[in-house]
Amino acid sequence: MNDVNKSEFWDELYQSKSAAWDLKTPTPAFIDLLSCEYFADRRRMLVVGCGYGYDAVEAAKKGFDVTALDFSETAIDFARELTQKEKVNVNFLVEDLFNLSDKYSNAFEIIFDYVTYCAIDPKRRKEYSEKISELLVPDGIFAIILFPIEKRTGGPPFAVDVDEATELFSEKLELLLSTDKINSIKPRKGRELLQIYRKPDGKKS
Ligand SMILES: C[S@@+](CC[C@H](N)C(=O)[O-])C[C@H]1O[C@@H](n2cnc3c(N)ncnc32)[C@H](O)[C@@H]1O
Repeated sequence: MNDVNKSEFWDELYQSKSAAWDLKTPTPAFIDLLSCEYFADRRRMLVVGCGYGYDAVEAAKKGFDVTALDFSETAIDFARELTQKEKVNVNFLVEDLFNLSDKYSNAFEIIFDYVTYCAIDPKRRKEYSEKISELLVPDGIFAIILFPIEKRTGGPPFAVDVDEATELFSEKLELLLSTDKINSIKPRKGRELLQIYRKPDGKKS
């Protein structure tokens, strides 16, 4: 099984304890984001490609109303246990992001992505950016830490090109912030960038 579009591919990695991307702790830059101005007054959050759920649980601890989505059953089982240990509520969706029903359109005030964009088949990046926009409420915020910013072929993780990503997400969203001044773990320093987008609400500002 080597098709990143299939849940089995990811599930096998989790089952064989090969989740090399996993930090075993919330993403440091995400902890900072939870108290940033862009998240203030917004509560309904989707953590997309949540993996073992450390970020989702951290957000729930800080009072966000969190939905965590991943199509790997194994990852979600772990994440569910983590919510029990940490005594927080997270709503889990074990679904393929691309097949989410219309019920979730305009549903989230914040969407967070860390190392999910680079896990998606590069041929589906446009579809991914459109899905993110569809899931956000007007005036909703999309926060993504782009990683790994490098030039090479193959994956996952598939190399991320900042210009390509910015162009794709900017088709439907407005870029508010793009910065590498974030709390990156040492091996990822210099290869990641935080971007914050807002879905236009149609009102004049
Ligand atoms: C590289 S992992 C990152 C996990 C987590 N964000 C982290 O930082 O540890 C990518 C995750 O995205 C999930 N994923 C990939 N494609 C998906 C899709 N189409 N629908 C739902 N989840 C998906 C995988 O199962 C995997 O858990």
